Amino acid sequence: MRRRTVFNLMAASAVALAGGWSLLGSQPNAVAAEIAVYKDPNCGCCGQWVGHLRAAGFSVEVHDAEDLVRIKADAGIPDNLQSCHTAMIDGYVIEGHVPAADIRRLLSERPAAKGLAVPGMPVGSPGMEQGAAREPYNVILLQNDRSGTIFARH
Ligand code: CU
Ligand code: CU
Repeated sequence: MRRRTVFNLMAASAVALAGGWSLLGSQPNAVAAEIAVYKDPNCGCCGQWVGHLRAAGFSVEVHDAEDLVRIKADAGIPDNLQSCHTAMIDGYVIEGHVPAADIRRLLSERPAAKGLAVPGMPVGSPGMEQGAAREPYNVILLQNDRSGTIFARH
């Protein structure tokens, strides 16, 4: 009887410890979940964007894909919001050269939406650096109804 109580107490503290660890894991500045990037194997700027994510602490799984058109269609990205690569993280889709900081904000705010997109390939966005040249661009929050609202301006 007594032994059993001690055992139960130990089991309970093990659960509490595990819970504590998972709480730590969900802190906003903890390393984010893995991001899967689908890209054309010959796209240089896609590789640069992957480098930007890794430098920001993301663990990136790169998939060279031939059928990006289908991947974008399956992910529900409207034609006017498309870019070169498509990525998935934690239930969200990330289209194009979205800054790592905006992905982190998305993951901490967790809006009910499909994900983020930077349409086209604006010069000066992460992976599209060309010296000091900068083209202003917006990060679009892609809503579940496929409409878009502005999430961030750069
Ligand atoms: Cu690109
Ligand atoms: Cu790309």
